[in-house]
Amino acid sequence: METGKQLSGTLAIAVFTAALGSLQFGYSLGVVNAPQKVIERHYAMSLGVWSERSALLENSTEGEDSSEDQIHPDVVMYWSLSVAIFSIGGMISSFLVGFIGDFRGRVKGMLMINVLAVSAGLLMGLSRIWKPHIMVITGRAIMGFYCGLTSGLVPMYIGEIAPKAYRGALGTLHQLAIVIGILLSQVIGLDFVLGNDEMWHVLLGLSGAPAILQSFLLPLCPESPRYLYILLGKEQEARKSLHRLKGAYDPASDLEEMRKEKEEADRHPRVSIRSLILSPVYRQQLFVSLMMHLSQQLSGINAIFYYSTAIFSKAGVTQPVYATIGVGVINTVFTLVSVALVDRAGRRTLTLVGLGGMCCCAVAMTVGLIFQNNFSWMSYVSMAAIFLFVSFFEIGPGPIPWFMVAELFSQGPRPAAIAIAGCCNWTSNFIIGMTFPYIQAWMDSYVFVLFAVLLFGFTIFIYLRVPETKGKTFEEIAAFFQKKQRIPKGNAELQQLKTSSDA
Ligand code: GLC
Repeated sequence: METGKQLSGTLAIAVFTAALGSLQFGYSLGVVNAPQKVIERHYAMSLGVWSERSALLENSTEGEDSSEDQIHPDVVMYWSLSVAIFSIGGMISSFLVGFIGDFRGRVKGMLMINVLAVSAGLLMGLSRIWKPHIMVITGRAIMGFYCGLTSGLVPMYIGEIAPKAYRGALGTLHQLAIVIGILLSQVIGLDFVLGNDEMWHVLLGLSGAPAILQSFLLPLCPESPRYLYILLGKEQEARKSLHRLKGAYDPASDLEEMRKEKEEADRHPRVSIRSLILSPVYRQQLFVSLMMHLSQQLSGINAIFYYSTAIFSKAGVTQPVYATIGVGVINTVFTLVSVALVDRAGRRTLTLVGLGGMCCCAVAMTVGLIFQNNFSWMSYVSMAAIFLFVSFFEIGPGPIPWFMVAELFSQGPRPAAIAIAGCCNWTSNFIIGMTFPYIQAWMDSYVFVLFAVLLFGFTIFIYLRVPETKGKTFEEIAAFFQKKQRIPKGNAELQQLKTSSDA
């Protein structure tokens, strides 16, 4: 039984501060949607192809998208790059999460990388001074690099400082901050707020703002006791950090748990990304982690987020921008539901309910899209299905993979596992973002059948292979997988590794 104040003020400040990084991630994900047309116009002016386009716009009715296909190819290319380079930055940097987290600790790691966020914000904020397309693309690349790191460091830090009973709820706050960031960017990106000709650069530049606030707050946050004790062997400092996080209490049982994990970690060489991939000892956990992240991305959620306005228009909605903001609100509300439920209902149950529900919604969306020309009320079916799809996502498949990887691994392999899973997430996100328009053009109204099939497969996988981690120690969870692991006879080194971690 853990004693001590479970949710102290310092813990709240530490979690809030870390989650500012996730807010920035969400803001950067959503910020490029609303002001696309405005920014394209500024790219065109700076590239000297504006007159062609302005003439086209003057000839088209307001709000019509007829000129869309005729935007100068250079502008299309620079705009696509501005959007996509963010994911490329994230894909590369997510591999470095382990290195940055272990280099000077989780807190200093988050502090150091804020240099990236602030520089990226400045580049974008000042992009009207000189060649906007170059400034924005460079800024988005650096911001993506920053977000790849933050999407690993934040769940790692929160997972390590959270009391066992609240690990799920506090872990879900990473996703909550992401969705608040998306919603915020959607609202202030409206044309009468900042998404207009005069203010679009401020809208983009603001993505660096949370890093400034976070830099002031991070020095107040205690370092992860698990990092201090298990990695650095500093028991006294770990004890101090535990007291700051939990108030005055007897940390003996927490320290005992960490001591066991340290003993195990000390017996083996550091687990690098390469050794984690090659080692059969961690294969099960790694497979489950990758499948959890794949199920999050291949569910098709970002097809909705990136292309919601187009999807809503196709479903017959007259004001698609507001429907998109509606999605952002539902997204936030259901993440809050997940925060409340995850430590009671458990990770496995919520993921299963979420994926199963999304599968049914994908079928309903397809039915709605196919029959909307025959029955006008079918567009309401599509609308309702989209809202429910997002709600089911946020109940489980959205937030849980982010923090569950940290739960599935003990201290030694944890940073490497988070790095590999993060890279898998960013890569699959990038692939969906790039290929969805083509798949949609090919499959038309049947496009969500593809996601329904994938969702069905993932639901079965989670049912068969993923254990419940609620309320378990990191050691108990690792032991579950190692018991299932069959090591070939004759491999003495691996047998020894297995026996020692079973003990
Ligand atoms: C998760 C996903 C991200 C998605 C977001 C939507 O954080 O990783 O790709 O955009 O949820 O809420």
